[in-house]
Amino acid sequence: MHLPMRRQEMNFLNLDSSFFLHMIKNWISCNYLFVGMIVSVLDPQPGESIIDCCAAPGGKTLFMASQLHGQGMVSAIDINEGRLRILQEAAKLHQVDDIITTICADLRNFVKSSPQLSDKVLLDAPCSGLGVLSKRADLRWNKTLEDLEELKNLQDELLDAASGLVKPGGILVYSTCSIDPEENEERVAAFLLRHPEFGIDHVQKYVPSDYITERGFYYSNPVKHCLDGAFAARLVRAL
Ligand SMILES: C[S@@+](CC[C@H](N)C(=O)[O-])C[C@H]1O[C@@H](n2cnc3c(N)ncnc32)[C@H](O)[C@@H]1O
Repeated sequence: MHLPMRRQEMNFLNLDSSFFLHMIKNWISCNYLFVGMIVSVLDPQPGESIIDCCAAPGGKTLFMASQLHGQGMVSAIDINEGRLRILQEAAKLHQVDDIITTICADLRNFVKSSPQLSDKVLLDAPCSGLGVLSKRADLRWNKTLEDLEELKNLQDELLDAASGLVKPGGILVYSTCSIDPEENEERVAAFLLRHPEFGIDHVQKYVPSDYITERGFYYSNPVKHCLDGAFAARLVRAL
């Protein structure tokens, strides 16, 4: 469904950015608004170092890079080389390749060898995709309970790895395109038990109130908001 964006969302997403307007004209429909919302929760600022942990094919990486206005750096990590190549091509096309470094690696190994700590880290985790069934109807039929358990373990491992890349005082955003609490709130709660050095940073400054849960997370619901379902938690690391 293609609907006009509401002024509230446009203000939050700074849609006067010429880069994003260009993307809107070319390929962003209302269904991709959640990409901007997730980036808005991270709130990239010029001069910051950002790690996008599961970056490919790169919609969020490109949008984050555009928000840096040429100052700062985005390291885009993904395990899938082919998908990372798409990201590299898109970065060149949109002339943000000078501030994006792509790294093909399993995040869980990368974190063991990387001394680099960043201001902000986005983990847009692999998920069941239950928020995007309007585009992926096949997902309805091919997921088993075992798949979900495996996915939750992977999400936990990736969260642990991503947290090791955040500076003291820095921000970790965990997002999925799922509406399943087991992949969202429950993963965050389990993470906070394992990592008491992190706490929840309420997203009220970053997205419209209509998209905020009681606990201060971003949540879009395909039925309520007419957008793809997605979730994001903004977590801050203690100094
Ligand atoms: C939800 S998609 C990311 C979408 C991307 N953030 C975007 O906006 O275009 C999840 C990504 O996680 C990557 N991935 C899965 N396991 C990984 C791992 N162990 N290390 C790094 N990346 C991984 C997949 O290759 C996939 O591209």
